[in-house]
Amino acid sequence: MLRTFIAVGVLLGAALAPFAACAAAPLELKSVTVDLPDSDRTFPPGPGSDAVNNNCLACHSAGMVLNQPALSKAAWSAEVNKMITAYKAPVAPEDVGTIVEYLTSLPSAK
Ligand code: HEC
Repeated sequence: MLRTFIAVGVLLGAALAPFAACAAAPLELKSVTVDLPDSDRTFPPGPGSDAVNNNCLACHSAGMVLNQPALSKAAWSAEVNKMITAYKAPVAPEDVGTIVEYLTSLPSAK
């Protein structure tokens, strides 16, 4: 019986040794600074650009929108609705049409 206890004790000691080693090197917390990219780019002026600037820059840059490939009116409409339904963008329903027209009229968008 004593031999069993000793064997269990030795095994437990071996199993817990790595944790003891961890405790020897205490965790050190350091402050770091991170420079996040920032952008003050707005949408090019044109009919409806105010609505887009007011509704589409709260969560991401204008570049997120302006760097998209050419999209059809239906695709821009789906995109704006995705912002509203999936990401809860607070866009007034009466602004949706103006925004979709503006995005469709962008030179890069078709
Ligand atoms: C409530 C926050 C929010 C607002 C407001 C918002 N978006 Fe987004 N948008 C997101 C998120 C989140 C993503 C996904 C970002 C990612 O995947 O890194 C995104 C991504 C996009 C993309 C990239 C393609 C995609 O589907 O992921 C486009 C284009 C876009 N938004 C257009 C718009 C337009 C146009 C408006 C204004 C009507 C707008 N967004 C307003 C949150 C928002």
